[in-house]
Formats: sequence, structure tokens, C-alpha cells
Amino acid sequence: MVNTHNHNGFFWNDPKTYNFYQDWRAARLNATESAKSDGFVEISDLSNPTDSEKSELIRRCRETNLALYQAPQKDSMRDDLRHDLRAFAGAFDLRIAEQHRSAGDQGIVALTETNAPSQAGYIPYSKRKMGWHTDGYYNAPDEQISAMVLHCAKPAEAGGENRVLDPAIAFIRLYDENPDYIQALTHPAAMVIPADGDQRPQSVGPVFYGDPETGALQMRYTARTRSIAWRDDALTREAVAFLRQTLEAPDPMTISLRFKAGQGVLTNNALHDRTGFDPNVLTKSMRVMYRVRFTNRVKGT
Ligand SMILES: [Fe+2]
Repeated sequence: MVNTHNHNGFFWNDPKTYNFYQDWRAARLNATESAKSDGFVEISDLSNPTDSEKSELIRRCRETNLALYQAPQKDSMRDDLRHDLRAFAGAFDLRIAEQHRSAGDQGIVALTETNAPSQAGYIPYSKRKMGWHTDGYYNAPDEQISAMVLHCAKPAEAGGENRVLDPAIAFIRLYDENPDYIQALTHPAAMVIPADGDQRPQSVGPVFYGDPETGALQMRYTARTRSIAWRDDALTREAVAFLRQTLEAPDPMTISLRFKAGQGVLTNNALHDRTGFDPNVLTKSMRVMYRVRFTNRVKGT
């Protein structure tokens, strides 16, 4: 079951909740429309956001599942930035998911081009584009990623743009097209990610599901077409094709941006992608994005 709101849950297949859906839908679209022009929340000290900075970030995450922020760019060592990000996450009661094989120091991953044997060959650690996804879509159902921070330490010389979309908007597009699409994508075996050697077991689960702690709508998705099996059912195939098309169009509610140093996004694991970058840099690109994944949603959202 998916509650699309913490306190006023409605169920996609219950006609009595139709009016609630219409209200929720209107509120979501309005909030996303304004978020697109609201820009960044200014944070004076990433390691210690003020009460008003925090409440604005929480408000945006509650209304649109994401908040763009801008903190002073530091010339400091990378270790200081890890410390700051950890403290920033703590301000929202976020629990860092440390089990990822690249979690590195303090559960914080530097996404940067690398030749390190454990990461070489994986797209996140290359200059290549990454398709739409939510983080940790391949995790076991009881280890889902509910929130994340993506923080820019150093932008690319060229490219490296991100697009971000609230999963609630994807839900709305699907539901409006055909409510049965939502039924197909909440099926517990809608999406299967096969095991990755002995690194990771097979992962079977829904695309849309209720966050175990709050009941809020969460999404698990990847646009990749290899190493994935969708449930063998006509409606599922149609729903996935419609979703893919919506994301690639892209949906007008999509935020597209190229983060500058010190900027980032705090999000309840919104859909995102990135363009390729630094095609003319023959050596290693200097772009560095930090990624922190959490097992719970932003406090109060
Ligand atoms: Fe990601």
C-alpha cells in the first residue's frame, strides 16, 4: 500500500479517495511549480544550519521531496567537507547507509573519475552520462534508500548537468494517464535487478511503495535496459514505456541545473540523472560530487 501523504494517506485503487487525490495532485504541482523558481536555500554554515535554514529545507522536502541549497565554497581539505556533510545530515536526523561497497570514509562517497580497481568500469566513476534513477534501486527491499544528499565540491569544466524530478510528479503523470499503471508498478515483483556476481544478491520489488517509517510515497527506478527484468505483463510494459517517455521528454516539472561548488540537493531520493562531462579533458576530470545515502527520510517530511 502506498500512502502519498504522511497523515492523509489515500490508496490508488480506492474511488472514495479520488477527491483527496485531486487535492493532493494540485498541491504537489503548485509546490513544484514554485520550487522551480525558488532557487537555492542559502546555508551560512553547512555543518551547522540555522533553525530557519533547516525549516525552509524541510518545508521544500515535505512539499516537493527535494531542496536545493547553496553553502559557502570552502578551500578546505576534502575531509572537512565529509565532516560538514555528516553534520548537515545529522541536523535532519538522517541515518547514513554505510554498507555500500564504495561508501568510503564515513559513508560518504566521492563521485569522481577514478582508476581505483573497486570502482573502475562503473559509470558513476567515469565521465559518462547516467540515465534516470533513484539511488540504491538495486538494494534489497529492507535496505532501501529513503533520502540522499548530492553535493558539488568541484564542477566539471564542461557538462555534468543534473536533472531532478520529484517521484510524486512521476506518480501523478502515470495515474492521470491510466490509474492501472500505478497498480502495475506497486506490484511487489514489478522490477527485478539480477544479482551482481557475489557482490549483491538479486533484488525484487515494486517501483512505488510506502516508506516503512512514515508511509510516504517512495520510488525505486532505473531507466537502464540491461541487467533488469520487468514483470512479464502487458500493463507493466506499457507503464514502464510511458514513464520512460515522460522522463525523457522531459516533464516540464523537471529541474535541470549544473551545480556550482558548494551547491547541492537534499532529497527524499528523487529521480535524477546526469549528462556526460569533460569530453575534451584527456586526463582525469576534476569534477567531484559527494553523495550521502540515508535509510530514512528527511525529518518531518
Ligand atoms: Fe544517483
